[in-house]
Amino acid sequence: MSTLVNHADTSNEMILVLDFGGQYNQLIARRVREDHVYCEVHPSTLPLDAIRTMKPKGIILTGGPNSVYKADSVTCSPELFRLGIPVLGICYGSQLMAHLLGGRVETAPTSEYGKTEVTVDAKDSLLFQHVDEKTICWMSHTDYIAAAPEGFHVTAHTPVCPVAAMENAEKKLYATQFHPEVMHTEQGKTMLRNFVYDVCGCQGDWKMGDFVEKTVAALKKKIGSGRALCALSGGVDSSVAAVLLSKAIGKQLTCVFVDHGLLRKDEGDQVAAVFGPEGPYDLNFIRVNAQDRFYAKLKGVTDPEQKRKIIGEEFIRVFEDEAKKIGAVDYLVQGTIYPDVIESGLGNSATIKSHHNVGGLPDYVDFKEIVEPLRLLFKDEVREVGRELGLPDYLVNRQPFPGPGLGIRIIGDVTAEKVKIVQEADAIYREEVAKAGADKELGQYFAALTNMRSVGVMGDGRTYDYAIALRAVMTSDFMTAESAQLPWEVLQRTTSRIVNEVKGVNRVLYDCTGKPPATIEFE
Ligand code: XMP
Repeated sequence: MSTLVNHADTSNEMILVLDFGGQYNQLIARRVREDHVYCEVHPSTLPLDAIRTMKPKGIILTGGPNSVYKADSVTCSPELFRLGIPVLGICYGSQLMAHLLGGRVETAPTSEYGKTEVTVDAKDSLLFQHVDEKTICWMSHTDYIAAAPEGFHVTAHTPVCPVAAMENAEKKLYATQFHPEVMHTEQGKTMLRNFVYDVCGCQGDWKMGDFVEKTVAALKKKIGSGRALCALSGGVDSSVAAVLLSKAIGKQLTCVFVDHGLLRKDEGDQVAAVFGPEGPYDLNFIRVNAQDRFYAKLKGVTDPEQKRKIIGEEFIRVFEDEAKKIGAVDYLVQGTIYPDVIESGLGNSATIKSHHNVGGLPDYVDFKEIVEPLRLLFKDEVREVGRELGLPDYLVNRQPFPGPGLGIRIIGDVTAEKVKIVQEADAIYREEVAKAGADKELGQYFAALTNMRSVGVMGDGRTYDYAIALRAVMTSDFMTAESAQLPWEVLQRTTSRIVNEVKGVNRVLYDCTGKPPATIEFE
């Protein structure tokens, strides 16, 4: 059985987020980390003893869907508020604080949802330093605190909410009905910073430069003269993980890069240029050109789930073959990041798509332990580490790319010819979007090949060719997304270049659908 290795340096000051089922739990942690204070998210059921051992500088209670006065609602021990550790309760967390300490929580006469003007009543509150008297905050609640507990001052209100914020400064207990972590709370960052620095007394010792240094040292110590194997996809996470390992153990690391022939244009060569013998890193790099194997398995297969399964399984087979040649290794390196860790506890939702990533590998490879050096980092922190390590921008800023690659951006059966078409069209699209500087707001954008052929006219002749679909979405979490309103000129230029430069395409369509009801990828 493998153990997961944590490389966090526990000497960092820490803010603990206790999750009561709120949809913004990760966002709170990200905001705190952006202010250079290390922060972890744990379930609300975390025992008090464990909390004491962690020695957090402060605790933040998240929102959640429950009502505190219902018998089966998630709760916490009232002792939590007597540990002497500062607490900030947000939304449900604020109501829980009020309820457990003797205040009154009721159904609000009207629910507040959305941007709401909040009046700050306490000029001297540490939480509201440098915050305007009238400030726009994000509200989302049906219950509210009708009366604050004894010893608490009401520090803010709205026309609906008599207690939009409250505090017992002496005991360092703070609560807001609104969500300071959400971008729509205009001065929310200031409030969180006030809590973390001025109430909890943090100094801000979470820096990515230090992370690199400490992690490399910890990996050196842990692995010693052992051997490690890394499945390198060329994505940000596995690339950064590989470089950290190579800094720590050099040639004791072998990276296997499986080119399944479903990558974006030139991507395989770009990965090889960075990690191969010509690149700056001192590691063993194996590129497996497995296009033919994948295309053969995919021949004639049109069902999206079946395609995903075939690509996922073949990936493991290829990796397994390579691993066998290398022999037993001590450590398997994985690019798991913090959102994967937080989300792995959930999992009751329906399978919309069977995701392919390297999570399936451990059963098939002979190794003793898994090393996950990025396990505690958010994506933006991983990118920062990548920059610290000197990885090129095009790798660090790469948009997410699904494991099954272009296989799920070609609707219907996959052929080498179709891969070429979608690669060329996608490269043109990315080039035009970037040239216009239109990529800044976009979460993801790409070209897909529909399985529709239609009639066109080129010169004096009739054509009967494929239609390319362009997609661009804005999203913060990839769970929901809006179709982006790309400038018309960009779409026109892209269209004209695709139909002129890519053989086999005579029509270009733009996807205006959001998620839901569509998904970001086409299959
Ligand atoms: P969907 O299409 O489900 O995609 O809206 C949401 C995000 O997940 C990415 N995606 C994948 N990533 N393996 C991955 O590692 C996969 O099998 C996979 N399928 C979708 C997708 O690109 C988007 O960012």
